[in-house]
Amino acid sequence: MKPEILIINGPNLNLVGRREPGIYGSRSLDEYLDELARLMPEVKLTRLQSNHEGDIIDMLHENGFDSNLKGIVLNAGAYTHTSLAIADAIAAINVPVVEVHISNVHAREEIRHHSMISPVCRGVIAGFGLDSYRLAVEAIKQFQSPE
Ligand code: DQA
Repeated sequence: MKPEILIINGPNLNLVGRREPGIYGSRSLDEYLDELARLMPEVKLTRLQSNHEGDIIDMLHENGFDSNLKGIVLNAGAYTHTSLAIADAIAAINVPVVEVHISNVHAREEIRHHSMISPVCRGVIAGFGLDSYRLAVEAIKQFQSPE
């Protein structure tokens, strides 16, 4: 069976392509992730997006105990820097989570240097543009199961 990987995108990531193109590029995330799915037929990639903190927590709860799911790629957007509730949700679930950022958050404003979720994620990938998602999927593909 193909490994299943879920990509969860948080607030404002639906605007990638139109939003601050100097930072996030001018390609839409949907278009990029469609292509990623085409280029990686060996994995079943699904994705969800919400601008709401509670929705992201629900997505983690609903998918985080699914033993068919090999990993979750999470770009929590600005909630990365603020949300103890999302960190608690990640800590509560069984499926490993990889934190992803399009931009190099450490090269940006100081408020973006701290992540609430990094300590409970399996790893962090930041700063490779949209390719950060592919790198996270590649990392999850290598995870040994059971975790
Ligand atoms: C982001 C970085 C966050 O600081 C920011 O709030 C985002 C996007 C990134 O992918 O680079 O919305 O997570």
